[in-house]
Amino acid sequence: MRRPSSFHLRLLCLLSCLLLQLLDGSLGEDPFAYFDWEVSYVSASPLGVKQKVIGINRQFPGPILNVTTNWNVVVNIRNNLDEPFLVTWSGLQQRKNSWQDGVLGTNCPIPAGWNWTYEFQVKDQIGSFFYLPSVGFQRAGGGYGGIIINNRDVIPLPFGTPDGDITIFISDWYTKDYKDLKKTLEDGNDLGNPDGILFNGLGPYRYNDSIPDGIIYERINVEPGRTYRFRVHNVGISTSLNFRIQNHNLLLVETEGSYTVQQNYTNMDLHVGQSYSFLVTMDQNASTDYYIVASARFADASTRERLIGVAILHYSNSQGPASGPLPDGPDEGDTYFSMNQARSIRWNVSASAARPNPQGSFRYGQITVTDVYVLLNRPAELINGQLRTTLNGISYIAPSTPLKLAQLFNVPGVYKLDFPNHMMNRPAKVDTSIINGTYKGFMEIIFQNNDTTVQSYHLDGYAFFVVGMDFGTWTENSRGIYNKWDGVARSTVQVFPGAWTAILVYLDNVGIWNLRAGNLDSWYLGQEVYISVVNPEDSNKTELPVPDNAIFCGALSSLQKEQSHKFRFSKAPSMTCSSKMILFWLLLAWFGIWS
Ligand SMILES: *[C@@H]1O[C@H](CO)[C@@H](O)[C@H](O)[C@H]1NC(C)=O
Ligand SMILES: *[C@@H]1O[C@H](CO)[C@@H](O)[C@H](O)[C@H]1NC(C)=O
Ligand SMILES: *[C@@H]1O[C@H](CO)[C@@H](O)[C@H](O)[C@H]1NC(C)=O
Ligand SMILES: *[C@@H]1O[C@H](CO)[C@@H](O)[C@H](O)[C@H]1NC(C)=O
Ligand SMILES: *[C@@H]1O[C@H](CO)[C@@H](O)[C@H](O)[C@H]1NC(C)=O
Ligand SMILES: *[C@@H]1O[C@H](CO)[C@@H](O)[C@H](O)[C@H]1NC(C)=O
Ligand SMILES: *[C@@H]1O[C@H](CO)[C@@H](O)[C@H](O)[C@H]1NC(C)=O
Ligand SMILES: *[C@@H]1O[C@H](CO)[C@@H](O)[C@H](O)[C@H]1NC(C)=O
Ligand SMILES: *[C@@H]1O[C@H](CO)[C@@H](O)[C@H](O)[C@H]1NC(C)=O
Repeated sequence: MRRPSSFHLRLLCLLSCLLLQLLDGSLGEDPFAYFDWEVSYVSASPLGVKQKVIGINRQFPGPILNVTTNWNVVVNIRNNLDEPFLVTWSGLQQRKNSWQDGVLGTNCPIPAGWNWTYEFQVKDQIGSFFYLPSVGFQRAGGGYGGIIINNRDVIPLPFGTPDGDITIFISDWYTKDYKDLKKTLEDGNDLGNPDGILFNGLGPYRYNDSIPDGIIYERINVEPGRTYRFRVHNVGISTSLNFRIQNHNLLLVETEGSYTVQQNYTNMDLHVGQSYSFLVTMDQNASTDYYIVASARFADASTRERLIGVAILHYSNSQGPASGPLPDGPDEGDTYFSMNQARSIRWNVSASAARPNPQGSFRYGQITVTDVYVLLNRPAELINGQLRTTLNGISYIAPSTPLKLAQLFNVPGVYKLDFPNHMMNRPAKVDTSIINGTYKGFMEIIFQNNDTTVQSYHLDGYAFFVVGMDFGTWTENSRGIYNKWDGVARSTVQVFPGAWTAILVYLDNVGIWNLRAGNLDSWYLGQEVYISVVNPEDSNKTELPVPDNAIFCGALSSLQKEQSHKFRFSKAPSMTCSSKMILFWLLLAWFGIWS
């Protein structure tokens, strides 16, 4: 008998994989995707100064988690840092499963030298998100990467399939180590101005002599005439950035899991933690390369020049380097421009997102609000001699036992469900006070910013509707300007200084969910709260059980089993297609014997 050639073997593999995929689909089984990540320090010099950054599988930014709606995602994280680590998935809703959210209110951090496996389903979601470290100020050192959730094939995109998909991280950056930055804050000092702006972890292109020689910059290679989807994320510490590409329009199509009304912009403000998808058509004649710019908004004059990130858009037929002045952004400090731009971003109510029905079939404007919270942000203040940030005068302190575990095991005294729904006339305090949400309630949250800088706020577990934004102090009359029709659903929203932003959120996802400042220094100094959403019927259909591998700490640390596999470079067992294939053929052979 002739031995099968490697071609035949590959064909066999392909066919069986296809068959399995079909079976997966027809049996209603959602596929699994496995990732094995090692988190460790790597050395990088983005601004020409050598420093220690946090890499995922030695990459900075980390690898892209590229999955499709309803897939089950398994990520084994091996913590090879010298301190505890946790990753959170910004924008992923973790339906019924706050156990996988990866913040200190729901999870014990993964100790140095340990591994922990996240397992969750990306249920009914599409769009552009990112993951980031949630403890120890580590985000200032890297550890982040992109998340793409693709549409299922049965649901068409509301635009032509792009010719390519490009993820871009923009961020402010300090040449100081993230641990030193953390110490600076803990000592009660301001972080000062950042040292530069990065593009995908790289420093600026040398567009003029003010940039030192020898900096490695980001170059995006494109083909003329093609249209690319750019997924842009601001993953910085505290700087709002304006993004633009010389001579190219940005056609906004998606933000944080919602398809938007498609509109062209010449530039777009991204506040900390925000994500947008733009379609960019390569419609120029490639007489040169083009600049891609991310510049600080609202920065003081002395640092403006330093806070410009520059990457290069290179056509395959380009005639030479980028030239001319950098493309202009909006006027510095023009918050009116920024607010108007933010208000212009709307939901495409007729587009289908993760499900075949149109996004707008959820008529949020017709639902009665059940709870109203007005959350006031003030400048950082001293509480018991410590510099702290607050919401409604309360600075959150994370207990050593995660809230979620304390709730399950009835550990008393860990937290209180008494977070005030408005600013109380009392001195600021440090506390573990959280919001008692009503399951299936419809909550209105108004963020009032009484500080002099832009803030952004992020909510885990949900997408919320951005219904209003204006200068001044919010009053009941402000509801008159709410957008009750096509306000966009997203998870991170900005609040301009001396202004307010109102959101609506349907609390249908059981769990304990983190609401936090996007700005890392505000977050680190206490500006966060949690919303507890409990189903009074206590049905295990609305919440998944605590995972078998949960890590225990604080008051529950006695429940923790010793980790037998303390840090080893072992490969996670992953059912790859080929091992699935072996299983499949074994099964087939077995059936063959019996029939
Ligand atoms: C993501 O995966 C899909 C296949 O599932 C592939 O078509 C696409 O090119 C990938 N995107 C990126 C950015 O890697
Ligand atoms: C650590 O990884 C191993 C595989 O390498 C896995 O079997 C184990 O469950 C993981 N531990 C936790 C707590 O997730
Ligand atoms: C470099 O470019 C910046 C921004 O366009 C400009 O403000 C600055 O004067 C330039 N510096 C030099 C040395 O040319
Ligand atoms: C956006 O601009 C491009 C040119 O870059 C143009 O072809 C397209 O029609 C514009 N789309 C909209 C919706 O304005
Ligand atoms: C095309 O390139 C030439 C130089 O090769 C330039 O003079 C001209 O302005 C460009 N045209 C457009 C539409 O950009
Ligand atoms: C809204 O989405 C639909 C797809 O359902 C698309 O055809 C249409 O162009 C989109 N409209 C706008 C204004 O973006
Ligand atoms: C929290 O809210 C629920 C109703 O959603 C209520 O039954 C419960 O008593 C509240 N708990 C506290 C401590 O206020
Ligand atoms: C906001 O700040 C101003 C002065 O900075 C103060 O007069 C006002 O009372 C503050 N508003 C609130 C709601 O705290
Ligand atoms: C869910 O709850 C029902 C009744 O309360 C119980 O019979 C069942 O065993 C539970 N299932 C799981 C997986 O805990």
